[in-house]
Amino acid sequence: MQIQQHVSLHEFNTLALKSVASHFVRIQNANEIPQVLEQANSLGLSVMVLSGGSNVLLPAQIEALVMYMDIQGIEVVNEDDQYIEIDVAAGENWHEFVCKTTEMGAYGLQNLALIPGKVGASPVQNIGAYGVEVGEFIRWVSVYDRNLAEFRTISAEDCHFSYRHSIFKDEPNRYIIHQVRFKLLKKPDLKLDYGDLKQAVGDLKTPANLQQQVIQIRQSKLPQPAEYPNVGSFFKNPIISAVEFERLKSVHPQLPAYPQANGQVKVAAGWLIDQAGWKGKRLDKVGMFHKQALVLVNYADADLDDVIQTYHAVQVDVKQQFDIALEPEPVLYNTQGHISTHSCV
Ligand code: EPU
Repeated sequence: MQIQQHVSLHEFNTLALKSVASHFVRIQNANEIPQVLEQANSLGLSVMVLSGGSNVLLPAQIEALVMYMDIQGIEVVNEDDQYIEIDVAAGENWHEFVCKTTEMGAYGLQNLALIPGKVGASPVQNIGAYGVEVGEFIRWVSVYDRNLAEFRTISAEDCHFSYRHSIFKDEPNRYIIHQVRFKLLKKPDLKLDYGDLKQAVGDLKTPANLQQQVIQIRQSKLPQPAEYPNVGSFFKNPIISAVEFERLKSVHPQLPAYPQANGQVKVAAGWLIDQAGWKGKRLDKVGMFHKQALVLVNYADADLDDVIQTYHAVQVDVKQQFDIALEPEPVLYNTQGHISTHSCV
């Protein structure tokens, strides 16, 4: 464990933003976490935890100790006729882990294949796709709690998972996630309700085929970060009141909408952005992807200011046309390595 200085984070964020950390350390064992926190304290540095970098917006310069979570390990800890429980270290690659579960006959995560990032970040925003959210298959999350200065496990119930949300977003600087325990199914229960997934899977209703179809759907419309640097969906799908939805629906009958259990309605941000004329449109170095308007792409060595300029312009146009404020999904960091709030339109 060695603290390095002036480290470029270009390779550590999938949007490929130009960003340099004043201090950087790679964590390969959970026991190193308290030691590193102490060192940061004695150096007077704040700490920023970095995982796969697939959902972050980094400033050009970060004056902080960046802790890159690189702990590896996958271990089956319990198994019976119905369930299989697996402990997975935070630094494991998410997609590779999902593929492993399919090979070992552990089911539930197949709809979440090909999501970029690492296992440790998966509970933070409760990653979700094609009708499944990861929180449904988490038993607990193992963390170092900076407030209590101790290691703890937090049960799934206490994580308060909801759409793109958990307690880890409410108290972003408190917990450092180092391991996740998953509880997966031994007998497949395929979730095929989302859009055209059922049709894509066809008669071959196996977890392996479901995973394969999800991979193909994602590849057909979502850009791969290596080719088009991006952070997946750039905005959350807005959740609006039933009254507001009726108003919009009367003017825009085609607006894709998903009614929520509490009577509110989730509407498709991608459709709103597309209709506002942003699909395939660029402002200098940054634009919205031509096959999926919800994904912002860094086309030419952009920095955070370029990104902010483009996404503000998108927000303004959508606000003007639909009176809906789009909320960015990725986490924005300031120059001290602290999470900061996105400005509103
Ligand atoms: N749409 C358009 N134009 C576009 C994009 C979308 O009209 O340019 C329409 C689509 O035709 C569809 C609707 O908007 O009727 C929704 O689009 P899609 O099915 O592609 O899903 P999404 O709402 O855009 C969400 C998640 C994705 C996840 C998919 C599949 C959010 C913010 N995004 O996207 O998550 O993969 O559903 O479940 O909830 C991510 O979080 O990074 C991510 C990729």
